[in-house]
Amino acid sequence: MSRLSGKVALITGAAGAIGAAAAARFVTEGASVFLVDRDAGAVAAVAAKLGPAAAAHAADVSDAAQTEAYAAAAVSRFGGVDILLNNAGIEGAVGPRIDESPIDAFDKVMAINVRGSWLAIKYVAPYLIKRGGGSIVNTSSVAGLIAYSGGSAYIVSKHALVGLTRAGALEYARDGIRVNAVNPAPVESRMMRSIEEGFAPGAAAAAKTAVLGTIPLGRYADVDDVVNLMLFLASDESRYCTGACFVVDGGITAA
Ligand SMILES: NC(=O)c1ccc[n+]([C@@H]2O[C@H](COP(=O)([O-])OP(=O)(O)OC[C@H]3O[C@@H](n4cnc5c(N)ncnc54)[C@H](O)[C@@H]3O)[C@@H](O)[C@H]2O)c1
Repeated sequence: MSRLSGKVALITGAAGAIGAAAAARFVTEGASVFLVDRDAGAVAAVAAKLGPAAAAHAADVSDAAQTEAYAAAAVSRFGGVDILLNNAGIEGAVGPRIDESPIDAFDKVMAINVRGSWLAIKYVAPYLIKRGGGSIVNTSSVAGLIAYSGGSAYIVSKHALVGLTRAGALEYARDGIRVNAVNPAPVESRMMRSIEEGFAPGAAAAAKTAVLGTIPLGRYADVDDVVNLMLFLASDESRYCTGACFVVDGGITAA
């Protein structure tokens, strides 16, 4: 299969569960992938497994100078960028209500999830324009469309990515750049283990059972469920889609 033949994809949070799976799938589909993560060792390991179509770069996405540098490094390594998968994100503090939440934890979630994604567009969009267009995919969440108690910073940040998606889509449509969001359900992953433990310290299994009760299809997503959608939005198959949020949520937001 070669649905991304000849394309260069820049993926942030590429050492994590979803980012690494997207990187592998994009390479299978013919892309070269420039992988950015703050975990230098882990992102290098992901790239090493994928061979010469992949390159690793350690950076903190919330830092403007590092973002400008990773965008330039991607172009220098692969000659340009066609796809930006804005995927780095953290869950932050889970459990406390707003009045009990640490301010620095809120600031950190916003810096990585929102500022990081905005900075990526700021520095990568000019390179997409040079290629005559491209696709930006922002990893939001069902938490970008609905809320729950005990995750305010994450929920605010993922709602902000919906706004970033719409604003970016309008600003860059005439440059041939499409901007969309994916809004996944909970995924079987480290992040969900952390969120379950935050909801119910010492009783994560019970928290998972409660979350599963909100999912009509009765299971968490697996990374491939999410990557299938990312691939569609990254590819030209979604050429008439922009400014939209695409759920892959087992029916959560239908309820
Ligand atoms: N796991 C889920 O259930 C789920 C559901 C919906 C949406 N999401 C979103 O999907 C994205 C990926 O999640 P995941 O499950 O793969 O999480 P993960 O924790 O496995 O991966 C996130 C990656 O981002 C990196 N990262 C964190 N802060 C960074 C920074 N400042 N600079 C550079 N890299 C940084 C981490 O090192 C990690 O490798 C996140 O945006 C997350 O909010 C996850």
